[in-house]
Amino acid sequence: MLILLYLSFLTCLTGAIEKNKLSEKIYISLEGSSVCYLRLNRENTYGCKGAESAVGVLFYMDNAARQQWFKNNARQGPYTLLINPTKNFPFTKELMLEIRQYINDKKVNSLLVTYFGNSTVEQFSPESTCPNHKYDLYSNDDSYKDCLDYNWNVQGTNWLNEYFEIPILALYKADQVEKLIDICWKKRNEPKNDQPPQSPLCAVEIKSQMRGAVNAEVCLRRTGKTTNLNGESKELCTIIGARTIISSYPGPLLQEDKVILVLAQYLTLTMFETLAPGANNPLSGMITLLAVAKALKTSEKELQTHGRSIVFMLFGGETLDYLSSTKLVFDMKNKNFFIDKKQIELIVELSQLAGSKDQIYMHTNKINSSVAISQANEKITQKFTEYSKNIAFKEAKNNILPPASLQSFLKWFEVPGVVLADHNTEFINKFYNSRYDTLLDELRDLPFNTSFVNKSFPLAKKISEIAETITQTIYSLATNKTKTVNVDEIYASTHTYSK
Ligand SMILES: *[C@@H]1O[C@H](CO)[C@@H](O)[C@H](O)[C@H]1NC(C)=O
Ligand SMILES: *[C@@H]1O[C@H](CO)[C@@H](O)[C@H](O)[C@H]1NC(C)=O
Ligand SMILES: *[C@@H]1O[C@H](CO)[C@@H](O)[C@H](O)[C@H]1NC(C)=O
Ligand SMILES: *[C@@H]1O[C@H](CO)[C@@H](O)[C@H](O)[C@H]1NC(C)=O
Ligand SMILES: *[C@@H]1O[C@H](CO)[C@@H](O)[C@H](O)[C@H]1NC(C)=O
Repeated sequence: MLILLYLSFLTCLTGAIEKNKLSEKIYISLEGSSVCYLRLNRENTYGCKGAESAVGVLFYMDNAARQQWFKNNARQGPYTLLINPTKNFPFTKELMLEIRQYINDKKVNSLLVTYFGNSTVEQFSPESTCPNHKYDLYSNDDSYKDCLDYNWNVQGTNWLNEYFEIPILALYKADQVEKLIDICWKKRNEPKNDQPPQSPLCAVEIKSQMRGAVNAEVCLRRTGKTTNLNGESKELCTIIGARTIISSYPGPLLQEDKVILVLAQYLTLTMFETLAPGANNPLSGMITLLAVAKALKTSEKELQTHGRSIVFMLFGGETLDYLSSTKLVFDMKNKNFFIDKKQIELIVELSQLAGSKDQIYMHTNKINSSVAISQANEKITQKFTEYSKNIAFKEAKNNILPPASLQSFLKWFEVPGVVLADHNTEFINKFYNSRYDTLLDELRDLPFNTSFVNKSFPLAKKISEIAETITQTIYSLATNKTKTVNVDEIYASTHTYSK
């Protein structure tokens, strides 16, 4: 994929000048873009179709006045819209709906958004307001499906789950964007005195072809069939896969061992190929899991004595309808896994944990729960509360679970389970599954030296305290004893993992 920009008098000149020289004169190649890619599943197509070549007149939109001008006066399209979201010009749902309409009307045939990692944007999430609702625990429940009660992700615009028949790219190199604005926008296309610019106009050409089409089944079938002369099959699409990382204490499980599963996720999905920092979702949970795993490692003997194993699982593609946990549950059902469901005593899931100041919410499923499970959940949440210190562990208000891999297990069988998260009935994370989910922008380019440590100290300290409570609670649930945890040690780990 490559962006070129050229002036629209191109055709008038072609006869006159040698081709190479001409292209040097009128094309400028731009670097530093990340493409929105096409995704297919069993039913449908999502993401961006791209184009072999999309040519649009550049329009730069970075304030409400320009937005208004574009709406009322722009008639020289089709346009390539370059959006520069800022605090004063945020990517709101309204703006996105407006852009969606331009795309539908073919007024806009390609979209560029800037992203320099220093954004002052206050909220943005391309996810659904109810992430993963199509295949979750509640999808067949008329009263609770589609988050009728709770919109976890209030700022969600759902763009991640829509299909765009145009290329959409994020531009992340400031000097390249400046070049584009200086040469193309300011010199040629910017309206002067409210008047439309005079020809020739400057246009952007985007090449970002996506070859998949229809749905996953069709694409994979075509991939198998299309062969070139060398007999190699041409790849139209690749299968999205993700490994589940599993580790258990102590060592290999005995059949009679009771198991506590500790879950977290380690991958995220955003609209753009390479821009998926996923700091709060899911890395804060993953880092906490690693810290807990490290702290519990010293207790292997005691766990063994009590016939308990702690199994840690890190899931990959959960953003896509719980891909990994669904596969794992499927394998367990088919006795194709080293743990039997009867062994599972409790599931603890570490969700987004970095967002709150001093409290963590415990979410349990209260819909159709048996008395035994409700009582077990209550006992477990009490235990967490008992072991919490500076960071209070509180019961969340909701009856249903937030998006969590635990739902895949509960779809199959009843088991005590708690999801720990920084939020109550609504995400604190204002950037869920977006390129802005970075938590601490100022840490981005720092080397791991003492200034880094100083700046990330409050966050690492918080994660360490959460990890301490989780470690002590799990240990106590498994052994009925209290474990002293060295927070400084956890702190050293969370720091290293954060980096
Ligand atoms: C709860 O039970 C009702 C009645 O059997 C059923 O319709 C509903 O889908 C169940 N909901 C969940 C979340 O299990
Ligand atoms: C972000 O960085 C770009 C490029 O360095 C700069 O032009 C812009 O002013 C910065 N924005 C903020 C809010 O600091
Ligand atoms: C850490 O690295 C940053 C960025 O290079 C630098 O500005 C800062 O002085 C360094 N701090 C220390 C204590 O070395
Ligand atoms: C880091 O913070 C400690 C105390 O919080 C301070 O003594 C030290 O000078 C700081 N170091 C840097 C490099 O800022
Ligand atoms: C844990 O200890 C309490 C109090 O000593 C006791 O009542 C309970 O039965 C013990 N539970 C287990 C699982 O050993």
